Amino acid sequence: MKKVITYGTFDLLHYGHMRLLERAKALGDYLIVGVTSDTYDENRGKINVRQSVMERVQAVRNTGLADQIIVEEYEGQKIDDIRKYNVDIFAIGDDWRGKFDYLSDYCKVVYLERTKGISSTEIRSGQHLKLGIIGDNAYVNKVCRECSYVNGLETAAILTKNPEVLDQSVPENVLITSDLDALLEASDCIFVRSHPSLHYEHAKQALLKKKHVLCEAPAALKAEQIRELKKIAEENHCIFMEGLKTAYATAFNRLVLLAKSGLIGEVISVDARCTSIREVDEIEQWSSLTEWGPTGLLPVFRILGTDYQTVNIITKKSAKDDRFDLFTQIHFVYDHATADVKVGMGVKSEGDLVISGTEGYIYVPAPWWKTDYFEIRHEDIRDNKRYFFQLEGEGIRKELHAFAESIEDERAFSNIEGNVTEAAAGIMEEYYFKKNYTEI
Ligand code: CTP
Repeated sequence: MKKVITYGTFDLLHYGHMRLLERAKALGDYLIVGVTSDTYDENRGKINVRQSVMERVQAVRNTGLADQIIVEEYEGQKIDDIRKYNVDIFAIGDDWRGKFDYLSDYCKVVYLERTKGISSTEIRSGQHLKLGIIGDNAYVNKVCRECSYVNGLETAAILTKNPEVLDQSVPENVLITSDLDALLEASDCIFVRSHPSLHYEHAKQALLKKKHVLCEAPAALKAEQIRELKKIAEENHCIFMEGLKTAYATAFNRLVLLAKSGLIGEVISVDARCTSIREVDEIEQWSSLTEWGPTGLLPVFRILGTDYQTVNIITKKSAKDDRFDLFTQIHFVYDHATADVKVGMGVKSEGDLVISGTEGYIYVPAPWWKTDYFEIRHEDIRDNKRYFFQLEGEGIRKELHAFAESIEDERAFSNIEGNVTEAAAGIMEEYYFKKNYTEI
């Protein structure tokens, strides 16, 4: 019996896939189809896949062409499969020509002509959303760059006071303006990355004009404002999401799940530090708390919740400009746990994250907010485990993708729960109104 194997994502199964499977099957007597797992696709940067692996496997099964279906979970698996299943022929579309020649040491490699004029990518990009970006620093370039990887989303306009910071990541046909109305007019959805004191106003104006909003954290400096923005979004049938790239890093989300699933016993303490030295020379600079606070608060609120008993904020202001905090510490006491967040742009420290539990701890080395790696450590070091998850585009790509998907499906797929957004704004409010607050 001649065995043939082929692999693919097979998202939104289409005529091109059918033809490929038919021809692959005709090469032998038995066809094995490898369908990529969700994690495998995510790790290789294919984040736009619409259907889950279960749905894609079912679609391949429904073709009636596969004699066996397997899931492709890791790089290098093809060699393992070919040997394990005694495969004679490896077949794949010729968009991969040359890429799998190395498999000819194990079996015959056949490239089949790809069917022209159809692909999952094309079917997926049914929507064409025009993104408007509000921002005055180089972060706007990153957003433009990452946007180009997201199906159905394209940068249409930028509102900025500093056009000189924009670089070649900004496509040529993008409208650069200093007029908010012009930006809103040219866009279907808005990424707000202005100065934190303006987030609320920018988000509100956009929502009132029925534009979907992804607003960089902190989305507002008062909890009440978050509630108001959510209400306006609801009334105008718009998506309102908070943006924070760390929330979209796979490794971060996995460590939260592991901490919550009891792998280190009961969580007793969460300690997060985020620092980066910056000059206090610009009045418009983000403060240490607004720049880093939402990131530092994220693991605390995601793991311990937002129902803390007490909070204490200790801050050290700049002698040059008292609107700027060089360093701020936020200390929480919960019923059965404690948390400490230290942020600074005028103080340098180790930027690690430690989640301590009764049976072990999770250690994320600096810079933990860009994490693709963490360790679970136990008393007996033989029980330690390391975890690695590839991170493409610092999380911004996945954040934009979640935003576009939310708009299409008319419900928010945010990685930041509503109560976390509100609680973070509440901390900003305590700081600015000097509640539970000490200056050193
Ligand atoms: N294929 C094909 N003709 C097409 C599309 C895909 O022959 N028009 C083949 C690919 O070459 C591959 C298999 O079908 O061997 C699975 O491809 P997959 O990557 O899942 O499909 P695409 O439509 O190319 O998906 P995407 O647009 O996400 O890359």
